[in-house]
Amino acid sequence: MAILMNGIALRNRILNELNNYINKTGIKPKLTAILVGDDSASKLYVHNKEKYARIAGIETDIIRMSSDVNTETVIRQIQKLNADKTVTAILVQLPLPKHIDTNAVINAVDVSKDVDGFTDKNLGHMFGSGRDFIMPCTPRGILALLNEYKINIPGKKAVIIGRSNIVGKPMAQILMMHNATVTICHSHTPNISQFTKSADIVIAATGKITITGDMLKPGAVCIDVGMQRDATGKLHGDMDFDSCSSVAGYITPTPGGTGPMTIAGLMMNTVDLATKKT
Ligand code: GUN
Repeated sequence: MAILMNGIALRNRILNELNNYINKTGIKPKLTAILVGDDSASKLYVHNKEKYARIAGIETDIIRMSSDVNTETVIRQIQKLNADKTVTAILVQLPLPKHIDTNAVINAVDVSKDVDGFTDKNLGHMFGSGRDFIMPCTPRGILALLNEYKINIPGKKAVIIGRSNIVGKPMAQILMMHNATVTICHSHTPNISQFTKSADIVIAATGKITITGDMLKPGAVCIDVGMQRDATGKLHGDMDFDSCSSVAGYITPTPGGTGPMTIAGLMMNTVDLATKKT
């Protein structure tokens, strides 16, 4: 039976440590989130970010904009926040409504306040020099979880399923920086199990596929970033928990694994940006 990787316990410890650090140093981090439209999942995410920021001692503000705003209006709002000295971190909740130019909006955020690390400028640092970059929140949280459970990364075979800008691509880069051998699979990859069967670390981030225990190497580290709901509305990940946990060495539960660690990553990024400013 796999060891459960408890994201809630580690998130709580990290928030507590950040709170102590903020009190000790007197930095004044402030995270402002922009929420466009009323997608129920996005509203819940932003609500959670506000809740856990408070626990870490981070000031937050949410700017809500109606779903029919245009790209220019969102960009003007971001420019105001760029100029506001009290705001140290800006987060644009994704996805944005379809008519909005997401790329233009993301890149309107000043790189010094880019808490998600999604701007081209930050990604240029991450994929280029490898210096002075913000690690996107989910990969940062996952890296902290791998460290917590003393998972050795150098030389290991890591298979990432999903190639998003939010998880798959930055996760691959971070694991390569830690000297893993990385394979990315995606919706056009035939026979994904041929890759997962030899993987020491499997990271699934699709929201669509199901990984079963027979697709895994015994003892594999399984990190599940997927979010799916079954017919009864119950939340589960991309991994069939029962069959995977009987083969894996370590596994994240859903909920309670990578979700809380994404929040922890966001709060660590917020504190890092505020620290650089002072
Ligand atoms: N939507 C899903 N994940 C994320 C994330 O990490 N950051 C933002 N801004 N939006 C998201």
